[in-house]
Amino acid sequence: MTTAIYPGSYDPVTYGHLNIAFRAASLFDKVVFALAINSSKKCLFTLEERLDMIRQGIAHYAKEKNLNDSNIEVTQFDGLLANFVMKYEKPAIIRGLRAVTDFEYEYQMALMNRYQNYQVDTLFLIASLRYSFLSSSIIKEIARHNGDYKKLVPPYVYGRLWEKFNNQSRENGKV
Ligand code: PNS
Repeated sequence: MTTAIYPGSYDPVTYGHLNIAFRAASLFDKVVFALAINSSKKCLFTLEERLDMIRQGIAHYAKEKNLNDSNIEVTQFDGLLANFVMKYEKPAIIRGLRAVTDFEYEYQMALMNRYQNYQVDTLFLIASLRYSFLSSSIIKEIARHNGDYKKLVPPYVYGRLWEKFNNQSRENGKV
């Protein structure tokens, strides 16, 4: 049984992530969204919120595109990714590549993960053109300034972002 481990911060998950995960699900026996607990990034959403959004996002994407999501799991992990993947049968790390700008960071991570554990390989899927300009950071930036991002994230994620920024504005006395 082959397993694709799809690690990330998912703050929040976008259609770009979901597109990669479902494509991996047709290539591997199992796909595991692996949310890094100790990501060096400062996240807008809590761990539980991010897990919840991934789960809701998977269910929505599967329904909307009429895809099977029975071989997609969601979990969290602490510590090194190169160690965590060994819990699974025939694991490979999956990452999406959007543009050349992603390459350097991804190249460094793939090599470092293999340096930590020579059994671990990283496979890259090229992001679908329609989502290649998406990132969680840019979505948060647009959401913060009330821009248009409705079709770029699942409806549940859209609601959580909207809530987050509107409640924050209210708390800060801006609304
Ligand atoms: O979505 P991101 O933030 O680009 O994902 C980065 C992530 C979570 C995949 C990376 O930071 C990671 O693997 N963190 C776990 C700790 C680890 O193994 N770090 C060394 C990576 S070479």
